[in-house]
Amino acid sequence: MKILLTGSAGFIGTAVGELLEADGHEVVRLDLMLPDAHGAAQPPSGTHHLDVRDAGSWVDLLRGVDVVCHQAAMVGAGVTVRDLPHYAGHNDLGTAALLAAMHEAGVGRLVLASSMVVYGEGRYRCAEHDEQVPPPRDVAALDAGDFENHCPRCGRVLEWAVVGEAARLDPRSSYAASKVAQEHYTSAWVRQAGGRAVALRYHNVYGPGMPRDTPYSGVAALFRSSLERGEPPQVFEDGGQVRDFVHVTDVARANLAALRAVVEGETLAYAAYNVASGRPVRILDVARLVAEGSRRRVAPRVTGGYRLGDVRHVVASPARATSELGFTADVGPEQGLPAFATAPLRT
Ligand SMILES: NC(=O)c1ccc[n+]([C@@H]2O[C@H](COP(=O)([O-])OP(=O)(O)OC[C@H]3O[C@@H](n4cnc5c(N)ncnc54)[C@H](O)[C@@H]3O)[C@@H](O)[C@H]2O)c1
Repeated sequence: MKILLTGSAGFIGTAVGELLEADGHEVVRLDLMLPDAHGAAQPPSGTHHLDVRDAGSWVDLLRGVDVVCHQAAMVGAGVTVRDLPHYAGHNDLGTAALLAAMHEAGVGRLVLASSMVVYGEGRYRCAEHDEQVPPPRDVAALDAGDFENHCPRCGRVLEWAVVGEAARLDPRSSYAASKVAQEHYTSAWVRQAGGRAVALRYHNVYGPGMPRDTPYSGVAALFRSSLERGEPPQVFEDGGQVRDFVHVTDVARANLAALRAVVEGETLAYAAYNVASGRPVRILDVARLVAEGSRRRVAPRVTGGYRLGDVRHVVASPARATSELGFTADVGPEQGLPAFATAPLRT
């Protein structure tokens, strides 16, 4: 396959590009080198230093391409309100411009990097009242150290349940809103342009090449950076938040499987898949596992602090990716997180 890879210099784009080349494909790399992600670093050799928002001006690069693998985005939790136009620009406008340019160049296949943030609060069940949508967590309860969601009918603590791809989309941040918008533009393009696309909803991705300690880095990198300074990793709430941590090499494998399936026409015209390890883990255990692999074995510190926008639990089922794309994660948290403690990071 000839694949145009956007965001190719990023954390995930780098791993995807390496795997695609190792698998014998031709990769056209493109990245804007956003300063938030790369500082003043120059593009790696062989990378077209271009902006997806201007895709109309580099349509020629798309000619003869079989499929686009769209990883480029501004990432993170939407740290300040001032970031809103940047998410809308790089992610929403960038995707729309790319889709229009693909149509112009006759490229009708896309794999889009989406995210579990499209699900918002995750899925919950009450022992008495079955599935429930909890209201936002109460500040007084959080201040008193009660971090769980409660049944709106009887007040019992709700248990988390795995989220499937058909779940209602419920973005809670500007970043999440932009990832939902990318999916919606893509499904509209599929209908209008007669294309075929797959959205891969990655869970918490970690592994070599992850960005270091920035407000936009994932929690595993933050834990690791604390350990390197000889400080205990700071764990919010009671550490009982449950997530799925998926290794970047597995995310690359999921992309390869999706690219093949979309080019072969083996998927629905538009389909979304969770990309997760299938082995959920508590955040306190993430901190412990990273600490275990670190040279400085400092025990994590549970702070009891909280951030109002954080969701309590979000865990997805990767079953659909397994049955339809043949993807299963190789690296579990017990193996991957201790190894991550000493893996090279992007500076
Ligand atoms: N890292 C995670 O845990 C995670 C989880 C879910 C989804 N994702 C998604 O995966 C994709 C890759 O994320 P990442 O973690 O590798 O982030 P990253 O910041 O390391 O990589 C993103 C790359 O996109 C480039 N880029 C941004 N705007 C661009 C533009 N307008 N034109 C061209 N290039 C542009 C950046 O320069 C950067 O190299 C993103 O779409 C992100 O939303 C990541």
